[in-house]
Amino acid sequence: MTATASDPLLSPFPEGWYFVTSRQSLEKAKLIKKTWMGEDIVVWSDDSGRVCVAEAYCPHLGADLGPDAGGCVRDGQLVCPFHGFEYDTTGQCVANPLGPPPKAARLRVFETRDIAGLIFAWWGFGGRPPQWHLPAEAPDQTRWSNFRVWTTHFPGHPQETTENSVDLAHLSHVHGYDSVRRADPLEVDGAFLRSCFDFTTTRRIAKVGRLRFDVTANALIYGLGYSFVEVRLHNIGFDTRLWILATPVDGTHINLTLVSQARPIRGAKRRIAGLGFLPQRLRASVMNKFVIHFEKQDVRQDVPIWSGKQYRSHPRLSRADGEIMKFRAYCKQFYPGPLTVVENQEKVAR
Ligand code: FES
Ligand SMILES: [Fe+2]
Repeated sequence: MTATASDPLLSPFPEGWYFVTSRQSLEKAKLIKKTWMGEDIVVWSDDSGRVCVAEAYCPHLGADLGPDAGGCVRDGQLVCPFHGFEYDTTGQCVANPLGPPPKAARLRVFETRDIAGLIFAWWGFGGRPPQWHLPAEAPDQTRWSNFRVWTTHFPGHPQETTENSVDLAHLSHVHGYDSVRRADPLEVDGAFLRSCFDFTTTRRIAKVGRLRFDVTANALIYGLGYSFVEVRLHNIGFDTRLWILATPVDGTHINLTLVSQARPIRGAKRRIAGLGFLPQRLRASVMNKFVIHFEKQDVRQDVPIWSGKQYRSHPRLSRADGEIMKFRAYCKQFYPGPLTVVENQEKVAR
């Protein structure tokens, strides 16, 4: 996303909950360091599964706590490679090999939330605490396939990627969907937004041929970092779902993570209509493989547009655009600070 003289850029870090990593990746790596919301953070978990997302530099003398610099996790505590201070998952220094741990040695931590093994952290303006919450209940996992996860990285902004859920016009033009229509009026309630629409799409599956899907997509959005889309494939008797998680990295680039799942619809009348070519025992995991494949295709069609576009604060809309300005009004709450917009690229970098 670039700025023009007349149209300022959005602040690159809207307030909200943003995806950090999955519990599965964390269990594998033990300690993760990454750039997230313009800062370097470390992430680890103690033996009881409490996750800590914290600044990546030691409050003692500033050593890098990441694994490449020698930081490690021992007995659930993060150990600094420089003088060996140890931190628990509240961020407090609890051990010092050379004497009593200084009380004031405390990592700045971010509040976390785990939804079905996906770990999110709150980023607030000026470090303020959460102003709203992700859904209280994690989606039920009964009969759902395992996750498939894919992340891509490109120049972009989470408001621009999330806006596509209300931009129904692009669905036919960019993705070739047919019969796109809003199924329910757009719903906004505080930080929550729901956008539900129907469409049909024809997809080519290797060795199978072309298949038509009748789809209802119900996007449940909690801020600009968390979109959860329930996707019902009516004519083949499958439910699929997808988390679309945009996370600002450094002020210009974002990571976009897709997490997909599928399950057969219980009692579906038309379970395998159009899918007779697949083995009788069609499994949710097979379907999920298609889901992530199709979603990746869609994202790859969107990325060049997201990466190259200029933010238009006063877009010249057509009647067919529908709800774009309603979405923009919803987004305002995520820029509570004085830096609602910044005037040029230089300021964004600060
Ligand atoms: S800088 Fe971390 S213990 Fe000294
Ligand atoms: Fe799209």
